Amino acid sequence: MPKIVVVYLSTSGNTKKMADAIVEGAQSRNVEAVAMNFHEAKIEELKSADAIALGSSTFHYKMLPPMEKFIESLSKLNAKGKIGGAFGSYGWSGEAPVMIAEKMRELGMKVIDPVLRVQYTPEEKDLEECKRLGKDLANKVKKT
Ligand SMILES: Cc1cc2nc3c(=O)[nH]c(=O)nc-3n(C[C@H](O)[C@H](O)[C@H](O)COP(=O)(O)O)c2cc1C
Repeated sequence: MPKIVVVYLSTSGNTKKMADAIVEGAQSRNVEAVAMNFHEAKIEELKSADAIALGSSTFHYKMLPPMEKFIESLSKLNAKGKIGGAFGSYGWSGEAPVMIAEKMRELGMKVIDPVLRVQYTPEEKDLEECKRLGKDLANKVKKT
């Protein structure tokens, strides 16, 4: 079964809610999907993933520094050709998901456009959009 791994960094749980909804959407399309906090994520596990979605909230007009480090560590795994997704909660500027997508493209990943951003705490309609991203990722990995 194709596998999707969703890795997030969230300070107060907003981006985590998005990650959980992305997983729910993917699972509804009968694909194996799991969400994990960035410090639980093992490179080994990501190697076997067909798609990787990465999420961070925006702090000081950037993604949170540990997520930046995490993405750098992805260069150890050959992520080229994997499907990617970028997401995150934000308050007023929301650069993080855009920057994540850029880094993933530098690694040769095929990132779904546009990135998914939610202002502060996701509401029901936002969670539906997150589920939609999960479904899109699932549909793409099924085709590969
Ligand atoms: C110290 C601090 C700095 C922040 N800087 C930004 C910023 O530059 N741009 C922005 O859009 N949001 C900024 N935010 C808002 C957060 O991105 C927002 O609260 C988000 O919902 C947090 O999501 P999380 O719980 O997943 O970490 C900042 C919040 C704090 C507390």
